[in-house]
Amino acid sequence: MAYNRNSPFNDLPNLPPQGFAESPEILRQLAKASRYLGELNGLCASLPDPQLLINTIVLQESKDSSAIENIVTTQDELYKAAIEEGTASPAAKEVLSYREALYVGLEKMKAQENLLLTNTMVDIVQHIKRNKSGIRNATGTALKNAINGEVIYTPPCCENILREKLAALEQFINNPETSPLDPLIKMALIHYQFEAIHPFHDGNGRTGRILNALYLVQQELLLQPVLYLSSYIVKYKTEYYQLLRGVTEKENWHDWVMYLLTALIETAQLTTKKIRAMLSLKEDFENQMKQALGSSFSYELLQLLFTIPYLKIELLEKRKIAHRQTASLWLKKLADAKILRPNKMGRTTYFVNYKLMELLSSD
Ligand SMILES: Nc1ncnc2c1ncn2[C@@H]1O[C@H](COP(=O)(O)OP(=O)(O)O)[C@@H](O)[C@H]1O
Ligand SMILES: [Mg+2]
Repeated sequence: MAYNRNSPFNDLPNLPPQGFAESPEILRQLAKASRYLGELNGLCASLPDPQLLINTIVLQESKDSSAIENIVTTQDELYKAAIEEGTASPAAKEVLSYREALYVGLEKMKAQENLLLTNTMVDIVQHIKRNKSGIRNATGTALKNAINGEVIYTPPCCENILREKLAALEQFINNPETSPLDPLIKMALIHYQFEAIHPFHDGNGRTGRILNALYLVQQELLLQPVLYLSSYIVKYKTEYYQLLRGVTEKENWHDWVMYLLTALIETAQLTTKKIRAMLSLKEDFENQMKQALGSSFSYELLQLLFTIPYLKIELLEKRKIAHRQTASLWLKKLADAKILRPNKMGRTTYFVNYKLMELLSSD
């Protein structure tokens, strides 16, 4: 039967796609993507304390991946929320849930013999949405044009069919015998397939992008989930949507795979650059802080500044880095030395590692 965007696409074929072949153009781009990803991974592996720098990168990815879904928050709002969630905006909370979902998914994958299973996908979406979402069992979900409401795509329905398609996808992800394709190409195919299955009522875009990062960890191409693809997708969002559609309507896998390989190349380079810049900033800070604080220089404080770039006195107390008076004195000295910038939000003064923030938002 001919494809009809208005009715559930229950004929969605399982992976691997029949007509797909690696063109010379794809192979060239693949070699480049592997090289840059390898470089990024090497850098991550050499970090003495990877979690320290990586946590902020993962938060940036969470912010951008949410932005693709029009969940928009500012850096200020987000980092403030990361310290005290109670007063945070709904968008900032959703970004934090995204980061949590990514780490939950990673743990779950590791706990299940490194397999990426349907139950992990469900866990991820439940953490993103902070509810009990499950596989859709009703019609009514369709992707629509935001301006004129026209239906762009109607995913398959309902639960039984979705579970079958997810089971086939699980096989493709976890069983290397289903296809000899390179994992980076597989990642592109998997991302399309997950979005086309669209198993949840909402949160499919974000869950699918988390799966990309987990898959690269599973394939040992990344030790840490530092995939920052969403910064590219935010920039080229129209193409992202068009190309997904192109696969469904015209089996145009070539352009879709090229898009994701290019995104990998650009974002691996960008992330490597950012991590290097953070390392060098941290060294500068160490020297400057030693000057500003003299013998009371605290390495823990330096570490904290790179984990949570928005500090407040209470946080230093809570983390047992210093008592209130000392904490207040240190932060003031660092502000006087222009290492941190005070920023009053509501009744609280935050001391912002603004150089790190500039670095994180630059491209
Ligand atoms: N034509 C399409 N076919 C399949 N998936 C699509 C198509 N267009 C967009 N998408 C995917 O659907 C996602 C949006 O689905 P949604 O469930 O709302 O995700 P989220 O809740 O994370 O917002 C997009 O980010 C994209 O990944
Ligand atoms: Mg949505």
